[in-house]
Amino acid sequence: MRTLLLVAVIVGSCTVAGVFNPARSQPGDGSSPRLTQSVPSSSPVLYGLGESPFAPRPSTSCAAASCHGGGQVGKVGSEHSSWAAEVFPSGPSDPHSRAYQVLFNPVSVEMAKKLNLGEAHRAERCLKCHAVLTHEEPDVRAAILAEGVGCSACHGPAEKWLSVHYLPEWQTLSSRDKWLKYGFIPTKNLVARTLNCASCHMGDSSRDVNHDLYAAGHPRITFEAARLHYHPDYRHHWTEKTPQPDFEIRLWIVGQAAALRAATDLLRARAERALAHTPESAWPEFAGYSCYACHQRVGEGAVRNSVSAMPRPLGVAGWEVLANTGVAIAAQYCSTAYPGLTPPTLTEVQRLRKLMDGPRPPSPATVRQQATKALGELDAWLAELQTAEDGKRQPVPSGTTEQLLHALANNALTRSAGGETLLADHDWDALTANYLGCAAMYHARGGRMPSWQKPLDSLREQLRFPALTSGQWNSPADFTVQKLNTLRENFILLRNMSAPSATPEGGKK
Ligand code: HEC
Ligand code: HEC
Ligand code: HEC
Ligand code: HEC
Repeated sequence: MRTLLLVAVIVGSCTVAGVFNPARSQPGDGSSPRLTQSVPSSSPVLYGLGESPFAPRPSTSCAAASCHGGGQVGKVGSEHSSWAAEVFPSGPSDPHSRAYQVLFNPVSVEMAKKLNLGEAHRAERCLKCHAVLTHEEPDVRAAILAEGVGCSACHGPAEKWLSVHYLPEWQTLSSRDKWLKYGFIPTKNLVARTLNCASCHMGDSSRDVNHDLYAAGHPRITFEAARLHYHPDYRHHWTEKTPQPDFEIRLWIVGQAAALRAATDLLRARAERALAHTPESAWPEFAGYSCYACHQRVGEGAVRNSVSAMPRPLGVAGWEVLANTGVAIAAQYCSTAYPGLTPPTLTEVQRLRKLMDGPRPPSPATVRQQATKALGELDAWLAELQTAEDGKRQPVPSGTTEQLLHALANNALTRSAGGETLLADHDWDALTANYLGCAAMYHARGGRMPSWQKPLDSLREQLRFPALTSGQWNSPADFTVQKLNTLRENFILLRNMSAPSATPEGGKK
């Protein structure tokens, strides 16, 4: 992975960022298994977010044959076996059980050297996402670390819930009590689950893959919940209880909210570090902007106006484009997916986007203020979605997958003054976000929509990174006008085939 070409660049300095607050742990009370009283349910709490006061337990604590170590990969009762087993490359496996081991590979060794971190497998900076950190005694700590992203990383630190989660009374606890009283993350709730995935796959206030990590060799991390769920190399150790297409529709909607929430929190934390002048902070932090706006072949920009109406001024790399592209559609459709829920307004989010996509990078103080407001708005929305996930849910009305596919394809397009249908944004991240949403709707129909398949395959083909020749970075560096044209044509095809008959061809509704 090498040589990304540069054109437009916002001026800024790049140094290593990172402020770490390892989760505090408290010793267990040592009493016999018993449930704790419930917590008064007044203020909204997003399950799994922020530090838990409880300590993690090694995944081996879950591996008894009668618990989750049944040994039959893919079977109920064999969750630990499924997570741990290597079936790669002949079949999918769970990448999380390898997450610590990758810190020993040549890329990690090289990164740690460039960043002056000592050994990658000892650097908290890396371990925060590639393992589960704890303050237990050294041998327990070492055992937990070596397991990589173990059970506690996704199901919550097990200190308190380990001895009670199999009791019949456990089932009577609310999700809120499971999290607040026991530190258990109720992963069946898609909001809790997705926010947790995003904390590593996007980052959070204490976990940051910034531009220095990228420049040192870290693969780009992007977060799209439906895409990660359907990642071909990921073997699940569970079967989804929510039927298709409801599961995918809700996952896509919740995923948009969770991704933007994580991006906004990262931005807020980066602004805070810049304001505090932490030695590692950089402002603006390039990692929060669209990579391929800066990293592209010289001369490519000029010809693009023939196929696209770029929404941002030349030279402005958009802020978290992938996480922003589908959010308005998710907001619009959340009351369809969760009947009774009021769609959020997201005014503060729009203000933040406008601030970030202006011709000059705004000051960290302004950004911190606006990001905090936007975060409040997103948290309120997620809290509503979370409550809806906990409650009894009605089926999503039929036809919603077609409507969402139509909305997303339409979102990729716009109409020029001359009446021609152009791409609304030719940024790779924007096109990819719209494509991934359409692909999620295809999954939602169990892949049984043959007419959608061809345009989707073509979109994927255009968006795929070219094969790496040695000494190159992984990027869509040859994103040519021809490719963009093919993308435009396929989004038009998808839009038209899913169009409600009243919608005229071309242009936004
Ligand atoms: C914010 C969380 C986060 C931090 C911090 C982080 N990583 Fe990662 N890392 C990830 C995720 C998520 C992936 C998987 C990326 C993907 O493929 O989607 C990954 C992938 C990798 C890979 C590629 C693994 C493979 O299978 O090819 C390497 C190597 C790596 N990280 C090393 C490091 C090192 C070294 C550090 C510390 C300097 C570090 N990471 C810090 C989240 C993180
Ligand atoms: C990367 C995140 C992640 C990790 C790591 C993880 N899980 Fe899970 N697990 C999930 C998700 C998501 C679900 C699906 C939602 C649910 O059923 O709660 C799940 C479901 C389960 C279920 C319920 C299965 C069912 O059919 O209802 C069990 C039991 C379980 N996991 C045990 C484990 C054990 C044991 C480990 C450690 C070896 C582990 N998990 C590691 C994310 C994870
Ligand atoms: C504690 C941090 C952490 C959490 C939480 C987490 N992941 Fe990961 N995930 C990682 C790391 C690190 C890797 C890279 C591991 C490797 O390359 O072996 C990874 C890799 C993956 C991959 C493979 C990506 C690729 O491009 O190869 C998928 C898919 C994935 N995770 C899905 C999920 C989902 C879904 C959730 C939530 C249910 C989740 N992860 C939660 C840290 C995390
Ligand atoms: C505002 C412009 C800008 C944005 C946005 C940007 N970069 Fe960069 N990038 C640069 C500049 C300038 C350099 C060279 C200086 C340096 O290494 O910091 C660079 C260097 C790099 C390098 C090292 C290249 C080499 O040959 O050593 C990598 C890798 C990289 N960037 C990846 C990314 C990724 C991934 C993203 C998106 C998450 C991104 N960049 C976003 C401007 C940008």
